Amino acid sequence: MQPLDGARPSPNIWHNTAIYEIENAAVDPERRIEAAMAAVAPWADRDLLDLGCGSGFHLPRWSESARTVTGIEPHPSLAAIARRRVRRIAHVRVLDGTAQRLPVPDSSVDVVQARWAYFFGPGCEPGLAELDRVLRRGGTAFVIDNDPTRSTFGGWFRRGYPEVDSAEVERFWSVHGWSRTPVDMVWRFQNRADFEAVVRIEFPVEVAEQIVTEYVAAGHLEVDYAVNLWWRHF
Ligand SMILES: C[S@@+](CC[C@H](N)C(=O)[O-])C[C@H]1O[C@@H](n2cnc3c(N)ncnc32)[C@H](O)[C@@H]1O
Repeated sequence: MQPLDGARPSPNIWHNTAIYEIENAAVDPERRIEAAMAAVAPWADRDLLDLGCGSGFHLPRWSESARTVTGIEPHPSLAAIARRRVRRIAHVRVLDGTAQRLPVPDSSVDVVQARWAYFFGPGCEPGLAELDRVLRRGGTAFVIDNDPTRSTFGGWFRRGYPEVDSAEVERFWSVHGWSRTPVDMVWRFQNRADFEAVVRIEFPVEVAEQIVTEYVAAGHLEVDYAVNLWWRHF
């Protein structure tokens, strides 16, 4: 099945969905991202939208306290997995859609979170316009993305993706009125094979090989990983 027009290629989850599930389970076991979000805008009893929800890994967690949860996903196969995951949770739904054309009415959500999805800085202006349309007054949008300037993972990211200009990305968010909360979290794996598999879907071949040889093969099951939580009230 083809993704909807406007989808940004996400080869990690599109082509390696099972390994991406292992990655999600390894991300931020202490839930520091969630704590940082809750300190800015709690979502208990509010309507939350998970934009670019992938296979819906986070939807059950949001549903524990949100009034309603809507996952939006442009890849039909992933949307189908997400729907299956939440089929028994009445106040959660998954819709096919993109950040540029959200299939929800004006002023209908309180909190949006987009985690490693579409909002990577310059070029995501159409999605920002949609956030403006769908968020209620007083609502909050969160974007979670890598911080290439810090942490062991950040160093790997710079090696793998030298074209990402973190100063330009930071300028972009600041010009659009967003704030940054730096979060220090970790990837924590159960075993070396899982760690290696995830590294290989996240980095170009040569960089992945270096990381596996220098770090994973040395016996580490955890790596420090800095992210930026970008957020804005509407
Ligand atoms: C790296 S995955 C992250 C998935 C999910 N947020 C998670 O943390 O498990 C990026 C997701 O963004 C979706 N995506 C790509 N282009 C998009 C767009 N234009 N609007 C919304 N989502 C998009 C992809 O299909 C993919 O599911």
